[in-house]
Amino acid sequence: MTVSSKTTSKSRRRPAPWAWLIALGCAGIPFASPAAEPLALQGIMKDLGKNMQAVVDGLSREDYATVEKAALAIADHPKAPLGEKMRVMAYVGTNAPRFKTLDGETHEHAMALAKASKGGNGEDAIAAFGKLQSSCFACHQAFRKPFKEHFYGKAETR
Ligand code: HEC
Repeated sequence: MTVSSKTTSKSRRRPAPWAWLIALGCAGIPFASPAAEPLALQGIMKDLGKNMQAVVDGLSREDYATVEKAALAIADHPKAPLGEKMRVMAYVGTNAPRFKTLDGETHEHAMALAKASKGGNGEDAIAAFGKLQSSCFACHQAFRKPFKEHFYGKAETR
């Protein structure tokens, strides 16, 4: 009786070593899966998506000042921090030129959209918008799924 109650209180005071791993995981300390942190790229992409919505809204209203502003924000989107860029480039490897070219095409089409909007040319702006959307799509087709798998360990695209 005495022995067994002693054992119980001792095991309560000293949790098993693996309990620390669970505690660390619950505290959100990136111990088990550092790769699951969202990339800065993901935040940049969310903003591109928002600006594309502003473009569509502006085109519908023929509010070309709004379209121009959103197009310029897309063209000059922020860059990922250097450390992340190196991680991404290390991952894409021999596909790095393709990744950069696709980013460059998005930039060019966004600039064309901004220019057409500045002139208030609806036809040209809509044509440029189509090309811009296709350039987003081209990179997503080539890279989004592999990025998800590599950096987050899952294939789903949202
Ligand atoms: C050079 C490649 C490339 C180009 C160009 C590109 N994207 Fe992306 N995009 C990605 C990758 C890679 C992801 C997945 C990023 C991640 O989940 O960390 C992504 C994800 C996204 C997402 C999902 C973000 C989320 O909430 O998880 C949106 C929205 C998006 N992109 C919008 C755009 C728009 C709009 C354009 C064009 C104006 C564009 N992207 C151009 C590579 C690109």
